[in-house]
Amino acid sequence: MTDSMSVAYDTLIPNNVGLSSDKRVLKALERWHPGYINWWNGMGPEGFQESLVYLRTAIGVDPKGWAKFDYVKMPEYRWGVLLAPQVEDRRIPCGEHVGEPAWQEVPGEYRAMLRRLIVIQGDTEPASVEQQRHLGKTAPSLYDMRNLFQVNVEEGRHLWAMVYLLHKYFGADGRDEADDLLRRQSGSEEAPRMLGAFNESTPDWLSFFMFTYFTDRDGKMQLESLAQSGFDPLSRTCRFMLTEEAHHMFVGETGVGRVIQRTCEAMKEAGIEDPYDIDRIRDLGVIDLPTIQKKLNLHYTLSLDLFGSEISTNAANAFNAGIKGRYQEVKIADDHRLTNATYPVVQVVDGKIIRTEVPALSAINMRLRDDYTNDAAGGVGRWNTIIEKTGIKFEMKLPHGGFHRQIGVFGAVKIDPDGNLLTEAEWQARKNEWLPTKADGDFIQSLMKPQWEPGKYAGWIAPPRVGIDNKPGDFEYVQLHMA
Ligand SMILES: [Fe+2]
Ligand SMILES: [Fe+2]
Repeated sequence: MTDSMSVAYDTLIPNNVGLSSDKRVLKALERWHPGYINWWNGMGPEGFQESLVYLRTAIGVDPKGWAKFDYVKMPEYRWGVLLAPQVEDRRIPCGEHVGEPAWQEVPGEYRAMLRRLIVIQGDTEPASVEQQRHLGKTAPSLYDMRNLFQVNVEEGRHLWAMVYLLHKYFGADGRDEADDLLRRQSGSEEAPRMLGAFNESTPDWLSFFMFTYFTDRDGKMQLESLAQSGFDPLSRTCRFMLTEEAHHMFVGETGVGRVIQRTCEAMKEAGIEDPYDIDRIRDLGVIDLPTIQKKLNLHYTLSLDLFGSEISTNAANAFNAGIKGRYQEVKIADDHRLTNATYPVVQVVDGKIIRTEVPALSAINMRLRDDYTNDAAGGVGRWNTIIEKTGIKFEMKLPHGGFHRQIGVFGAVKIDPDGNLLTEAEWQARKNEWLPTKADGDFIQSLMKPQWEPGKYAGWIAPPRVGIDNKPGDFEYVQLHMA
């Protein structure tokens, strides 16, 4: 009998789902595996497939010590299928089936809806690996390079997690969907990834840090809501993925924080007090704070678009079916059905932005987006503490939720970061103050020079306060073997 806390390494695919006694699914995954490796070699980190990377691999799913660290060549990483332990007598936490036993098999009536949600989640995982595949070449340190690759292999594992569910529970159409996940490509004309933000490029390391802070956090919120699913295998999969996701957001938060810190230190050393003295600051080889704010504006708003329309029948149906819950559903004190509840949703009425109460069921997306905004605000506050400590006068802010939006009620209007409605002409005249321009991008790109000496960091980013796995400052996180 398999102990579901420990991981079996006796099959090609490490797992804690008893794959060696589930021949059908094991065969299906073994058939999918070569295509995956092919995808990884072709679309994964370019130029570093032969290097030895100090990576963590899951050896168990209990919160303490689930990971072991060792040098691994990325194509030999032990990607596996890992589910959080089954909670005994778990119940469906929301919707019309609330209180009934959680489903261990796919309920027929919700099959299509479930498959769609799993495919959309699955599609984001390889997409971010594709978006980040060129970054290794300009890594500002071996520490950062290692973190990039850790995020990449774990996104690869998240793809495995969704592909397992497709093969195990969705038969032939699940297999086709699993193949399509390797066929679509970020930014492709013919077969793009399914969601907008996952077709954008990640051209530099500040973009990478912003992406892992803001877009991986959207991933966290989606996983949180799927972790509440009445379909228990999906819930368990997502609960384990969330433990990995935490590291991705750590990489983002500390990455942006270290860029900010280096900028402020360089300004102090040069005696520059004014954060808008941009040319002089850039001459120091660091990224000025207003440009960092612009990058924040861009990545935060692209991520807001991932939450979909404020008012959504699909989201209402998924909640009502018990397929998707709210953020921390089981901790919310209400009937979990939302039959008579309301929720305030933003609307643009007669040239004004207002919040009006609508049926809470239809506002599930808006609520998750609000929870996301609260969650994202935490790190921004900590970035401001870094700035404050250096004595520079500047404050990072999350822009208004209507700024630079493509999806939902704000998609049709132009709004500034403070929430004021603008005419198209006003927007065109001022958007370069708020969003990165080509020149900003070119400047950041000009700083992207590799620094691969152990313990050394590029001049635009401060070293981390502690190493990964408590390693000392000059630890060689990646042993380079360039192809
Ligand atoms: Fe992921
Ligand atoms: Fe992630």
